[in-house]
Amino acid sequence: MDNKFYITTPVYYANSQPHIGTSYTTLAADIIARYYRIELGEDNVLLQVGTDEHGQKIAETAKSQNKEPKEFLDELVPSFKKAWKMLNIDFDVFVRTTDPRHIKTASDLLQKVYDNGYIYKGVYEGFYCVGCEKYITKKELVADKCPSHPNKKVSYQKEDNYFLKLSEFAPKILGLIESGEVNISPKHRKKEIVNRIKEGVEDLSISRESVDWGIPIPWDMEKKSTLWVWVEALINYYSVTKFDADKNRFWPADLHLVGKDILWFHTVIWLSLLLAADLDLPKQVFAHGFFTIDGQKISKSLGNVITPKEFIDKYGVDGARYLIISAAPFGDDRDIKREDFDKKYTSDLVNGLGNLTARVASMAEKVNLEVDSKRNEMTKEVGVKLKSFEFNNALNLIWDRIRKADKLINEKEVWKLEGEEKKDVLVKLVGEIRQIGVDLKPFLPESAEKIIKQFAGPKIVRGENLFERLKPGV
Ligand code: MSP
Repeated sequence: MDNKFYITTPVYYANSQPHIGTSYTTLAADIIARYYRIELGEDNVLLQVGTDEHGQKIAETAKSQNKEPKEFLDELVPSFKKAWKMLNIDFDVFVRTTDPRHIKTASDLLQKVYDNGYIYKGVYEGFYCVGCEKYITKKELVADKCPSHPNKKVSYQKEDNYFLKLSEFAPKILGLIESGEVNISPKHRKKEIVNRIKEGVEDLSISRESVDWGIPIPWDMEKKSTLWVWVEALINYYSVTKFDADKNRFWPADLHLVGKDILWFHTVIWLSLLLAADLDLPKQVFAHGFFTIDGQKISKSLGNVITPKEFIDKYGVDGARYLIISAAPFGDDRDIKREDFDKKYTSDLVNGLGNLTARVASMAEKVNLEVDSKRNEMTKEVGVKLKSFEFNNALNLIWDRIRKADKLINEKEVWKLEGEEKKDVLVKLVGEIRQIGVDLKPFLPESAEKIIKQFAGPKIVRGENLFERLKPGV
């Protein structure tokens, strides 16, 4: 394995506040990044996050609020940074696609693709969905609407556009994906992409004549069009590695983490652009599923958006992290019942982890227990599960340990024991709790640190409760 790991998250549209859905990918990326920092060392991991700021959707939202796009964005974008900080996302770089450094990299890259002969002028005629910021075929329409945005009208356009020769790259990309040279996972998503490529890939329009709020086409002297927001937004992943010299070595990305909705862009379109610009290709693209809440898509218009702040106010930072990441097996779609969050918080965190640490610390303090101050290494199996995106299974292993420790306390009735016998069991329990603390580091960083500190020895004292009980009615 290289001694570096570069993991990316989608740059989210900065047209509305971050919510639990967007937090999902970002949190998963943070957990993976934290794991690799332990494995490879702090300086050898790069986690990028950011916002997607060009295109028609942003321009229209700004206009509806009587603001210039840049003014609107400068007001909104800090809410993303704040949300990620609140969730304890330890990102290395926050990229905005309006950053002049990104604009330059994106322009240079597209110019190169043009110089290499992979772009030609043509006419685009067809539908466009502003909600998705994508061209949409007649076949994809459901009752004349985009299936992802049934409340919005699709527009019909006929424009002079520039096209990328996607069809030319399709056979090569198919080979790269099928052979696993570019690893697309989970398997069923890889299959979807492979099948879609086999159905035929058309050249791709990469410019928009009717959109001003975007990066000008570098080679087009008439300056009539801008780059289609998706092609330049993808380039953010590369731009970040050019921000300063010590980031150059992180290219190519080791892992693009995305939702299943944007896998096509991150495979066929992104790989074509990179091949056309003679750049190295990413090692892996992982697409996770979507979750709905109480059977509904998370959406502002349905009024069921949960912001990270709401979640953190109720469950604390680590409570929020735990509930979000354990809500569904990572690759799958899942419907979440709001009330399940409360139940899970109480059973797993208050009565599970919190109660175990409080009980053992209290018994250890009473008998003046002395333990060595050895530090543990992460349980191998937990790391293996985490690395393969099986967050739920990694957490299950940790919670098995918690349950076993609880069982030991109850079976031995430790509170009734005396002298050496009691101390022996407590030493064992402290060892288990330390291991739990170490294993939890990527998932619940604050609580893990508290546990590790509290049980580091040589003396163990009672501490604050890790998780507060939920107050009724909140
Ligand atoms: N701007 C593009 C991405 C460009 S990347 C070069 C975009 N932005 S988005 O704001 O719409 O974010 C989409 C991503 O948000 C999904 O791919 C997924 O990572 C995340 N999610 C949004 N809602 C979600 C759920 N309800 N469930 C899980 N993930 C969700 O697309």
